[in-house]
Amino acid sequence: MNFCGSKERIFSIGKFSLERWIVPSSKVVEFFSQTDVDRHNAAQASQSLEYTDELHENRQAVSFEDLTATLQNHVGGFIRDKDYRKILEAGPGSQDFLYQALSPTLILPYSWTSLDINQLYVDRLNEQFGQNGSYRAVQGPLRDMKDRVEPHDIIIGNEVLDSIVDFENVFRNIHEKTKGHVFHTQQFLPSFRTIQGLISLDPRIMEHEYCVWLAWNTPDDTQPISHVMIPDVGFMQSNQYLHERLSALAQSNGFKEIGQGLKKYSENADYIYERINKILIEQNILEPSPLIPTTSHYAYMILEKK
Ligand SMILES: C[S@@+](CC[C@H](N)C(=O)[O-])C[C@H]1O[C@@H](n2cnc3c(N)ncnc32)[C@H](O)[C@@H]1O
Repeated sequence: MNFCGSKERIFSIGKFSLERWIVPSSKVVEFFSQTDVDRHNAAQASQSLEYTDELHENRQAVSFEDLTATLQNHVGGFIRDKDYRKILEAGPGSQDFLYQALSPTLILPYSWTSLDINQLYVDRLNEQFGQNGSYRAVQGPLRDMKDRVEPHDIIIGNEVLDSIVDFENVFRNIHEKTKGHVFHTQQFLPSFRTIQGLISLDPRIMEHEYCVWLAWNTPDDTQPISHVMIPDVGFMQSNQYLHERLSALAQSNGFKEIGQGLKKYSENADYIYERINKILIEQNILEPSPLIPTTSHYAYMILEKK
């Protein structure tokens, strides 16, 4: 992707280099305005099973039990406290990690619907979990859930709102399909396009001539952003930035934010953000702070329907 900005390599791990990008703000707006939502969604819908299988394998490789236990207390605890029984999960992928993690801790009886844009994933999930009467997977995009699903008590998702580009439509649909809350969690680096879109709508950044972020220069050209520079604040991890900005948009679409931040699940620091943070701290590019953790965390956002 060529933004006519400048890029400087900070460090490399294997085939990946982390780069500092300095890009004219006007170019970010121009590029994002050219995003074709249908093409973007079609690309998501045609991913292979291996894509989310691999994502899940990566997750299982590091502190998986701590992550599962933390999600059971954090997301599962929220659902149990509210006595929610009708759960809609957005973007389960081919493994439905959230269902596997949370279902043993839910209050019986419950019903679980998982909605994914990818038919391959939906078929796999119905094969794997559909014999359990409380589970069903449904195909469809978040921006058009219409008759596919009825309103549920809560919408939850893990690593799914980091893939959307038409924020208003998605939040309008989410608002219609939750009766109470939305709870989203994010461990991995969000999609470049989504973060770029959120930057282009961020007045704190857009009032400056240039935007600054750190991104991987990946062999497949996906260039995921790890940190975004907020003028007068400093670098923020992109998973937390995702939630901070989505929450601001959700608040203009009938929600209020009741929680947002980073949730620690393990001391084990050998994971994406924590690994990058450690190197950036060693190189004096970032200062240690609660916003730049070197233990394992995920970012979360909890919204309440007004
Ligand atoms: C990064 S994967 C995460 C999968 C799973 N939640 C996990 O944590 O392993 C994103 C998932 O969201 C789905 N997805 C992406 N955009 C979507 C959209 N607009 N509507 C519905 N599902 C979408 C993808 O097909 C994929 O299954």
